[in-house]
Amino acid sequence: MKVPVALGARSYDVIIGPGVRHRLGEVLVEEGAGSQACVLITSASLRTLPWFDAAFDVATHVIEVPEGESAKTFETLERVCDELASLRVSRADVVVGVGGGALTDLAGFAAAVYLRGVRLIQVPTTLVGQVDAAIGGKTAVNLASGKNLVGAFHQPVAVVCDYETLETLPERERLSGLGEVAKCWLLEGGRAKDLSETSLEDLIILSVTLKAKIVSADEFEGGRRALLNYGHTLAHALEVLVLERDPDELRHGEAVSIGLGFAARLAHALGRVDASVILNHDQVLEALGLRARVPRDLGTDEIIRAMSHDKKARHDLTFVLAGPGGFDVVRDVDPLVVARVLEEFRGEQ
Ligand SMILES: NC(=O)c1ccc[n+]([C@@H]2O[C@H](COP(=O)([O-])OP(=O)(O)OC[C@H]3O[C@@H](n4cnc5c(N)ncnc54)[C@H](O)[C@@H]3O)[C@@H](O)[C@H]2O)c1
Repeated sequence: MKVPVALGARSYDVIIGPGVRHRLGEVLVEEGAGSQACVLITSASLRTLPWFDAAFDVATHVIEVPEGESAKTFETLERVCDELASLRVSRADVVVGVGGGALTDLAGFAAAVYLRGVRLIQVPTTLVGQVDAAIGGKTAVNLASGKNLVGAFHQPVAVVCDYETLETLPERERLSGLGEVAKCWLLEGGRAKDLSETSLEDLIILSVTLKAKIVSADEFEGGRRALLNYGHTLAHALEVLVLERDPDELRHGEAVSIGLGFAARLAHALGRVDASVILNHDQVLEALGLRARVPRDLGTDEIIRAMSHDKKARHDLTFVLAGPGGFDVVRDVDPLVVARVLEEFRGEQ
């Protein structure tokens, strides 16, 4: 199955299905015309997994980077670019990122800046990567002062989402991905009762299709793309606060689940939706096995301060919220209302 991301001359397909990694050679022929080198960027442990097989023999070179988030540094970016240069990779060649969202963010950024841009194919192997990170061209590394603070928009020429790679995913990573899936399901107006008839594959297709549609309409996040940040104002604040003490305490999707439960309550408190919306959010999260609990030891005041420093906010409190006509970006929300709803939400837990 192919989901198109329509961006004029930079349009591409997201190819989804079991075993589609074996079509990488075909994709290279179609999208990599004129290339002489195909450089795969991945990690050492991913290379040992059963799905990392003949499909990837199409690569002429492999560059290994550290696992997960620790790959998203300037140091690794510099080393990758140095290796690309010593391999004499030219603008006609292709870089392929194989891994989770952190890895595809790094590979994407390297492809964006090496020689001012080379062609990129993303092969996301986590649920977060498949439904979110690898699609839409946002690439980045982290700074000591924050996540994703330096990056570029660089669209891939193709994205290959193979469900089979998800079979080795640890449960916690799967649940983290389901947080983003829950966001897409809710943004599409999905109801909890219909989830039992929907397979994971269908949920991936729904999420990819939604992201592709929104990115096609707003590539550089000037408007509609901000809706993909549903649940993320609180999620980012919690991530920033726990990151300082333990980077593994809260996975992104877990934080998004909390943010979704809270956003429904805030929308209700602001008179935008009725209580059935809260119930549906709670039931969707429960059906997907997600727990929406704010870490107990974080204070409401510090969470609110962190929310107003969100990259997407303008030093005010900005949320994506459900409303009578669908979802909107709502700016300048009264901090007293936010504090009250947050306290009540925590009281329920
Ligand atoms: N660019 C975007 O639009 C965008 C969107 C969402 C998230 N992101 C970024 O994505 C990152 C999070 O991505 P993630 O949740 O995929 O985590 P991750 O990339 O850190 O991967 C988590 C772990 O799973 C391992 N892994 C990957 N695939 C596996 C597989 N098939 N089987 C077993 N283990 C596997 C990785 O090696 C890593 O140790 C963050 O850095 C976030 O900023 C970017």
